[in-house]
Amino acid sequence: MELRDRVAVVTGGANGIGRALARRFAAEGARGVVVADLDGDGAQAVADEIGGRAVRCDVADEAQIIALVDEALAAYGQLDVMASNAGIGVGGGPEAPNADWQRVWDVNFMPHVYAARAAVPAMRERGEGYLLGTVSAAALVNHIGAAPYAVTKSGALSFYEWLAIAHGDDGIAVSALCPQGVRTNMLAEEARTGRSMLQAGAIEPEQVAGTVVAAMRDETFLILPHAEVAEYVRRKADDYDRWLRGMRRLRDRVVQGEAG
Ligand SMILES: NC(=O)c1ccc[n+]([C@@H]2O[C@H](COP(=O)([O-])OP(=O)(O)OC[C@H]3O[C@@H](n4cnc5c(N)ncnc54)[C@H](O)[C@@H]3O)[C@@H](O)[C@H]2O)c1
Repeated sequence: MELRDRVAVVTGGANGIGRALARRFAAEGARGVVVADLDGDGAQAVADEIGGRAVRCDVADEAQIIALVDEALAAYGQLDVMASNAGIGVGGGPEAPNADWQRVWDVNFMPHVYAARAAVPAMRERGEGYLLGTVSAAALVNHIGAAPYAVTKSGALSFYEWLAIAHGDDGIAVSALCPQGVRTNMLAEEARTGRSMLQAGAIEPEQVAGTVVAAMRDETFLILPHAEVAEYVRRKADDYDRWLRGMRRLRDRVVQGEAG
């Protein structure tokens, strides 16, 4: 899909990857970009900059996603691209409190379901639309410091695969964006809390947005701004146990690094 004259909604659009997507969609000639975020002022600032509309929206609340889609339809008459991007990082393992597991599920997984539920009917009717989910490379190769995060991202990837299978023949394109480190507030927060293994190869959100727009043109399902992730996935599929041994060694190095 070409973005020119299209209408897009971007959640988590006030910062980081979402802001870069909103800016890039506008630069590509989108007719309307709705910037949605829990941070209403941040969303407004981005919307003002690109001539879009801002909506304060908590994606964990389905009613607010329904209202967001309704607003895009009312303002622009159609919705071409639903970019479900908002997300949070939650670290730890099974010892992480239930409240944290629930929160990351509510923000990183269910909003993709709400977004599809709200956007797909009108897209199916028109025989056209694009569902773009910001997932993570953690969905493919896990995240050694953050089980709750990795689990929600694997769930999200599975959901987008399902959508692509179910709706690919309805004219609805589906892509799952799976970056490794991207220099945003989320990565800065990871570095602050010690889980900093992704800093080294981190790229800028603008680079991610460029990769996304190119992939959307071709309607490629899996978007990998870090090309090396494809090789990690191949190695994992070739020999799962070898891959797990490698991940244990990586974990040891990170733990030793944190201790030192
Ligand atoms: N930065 C990375 O290294 C990286 C890597 C892979 C995937 N991702 C994913 O990219 C997406 C964007 O993250 P980012 O790195 O740009 O982080 P970020 O913190 O810079 O931006 C996230 C935005 O989402 C908003 N947000 C958080 N909770 C929300 C909610 N409940 N409702 C609405 N908005 C909410 C925040 O206000 C913020 O503006 C996330 O899904 C994240 O998991 C990030």
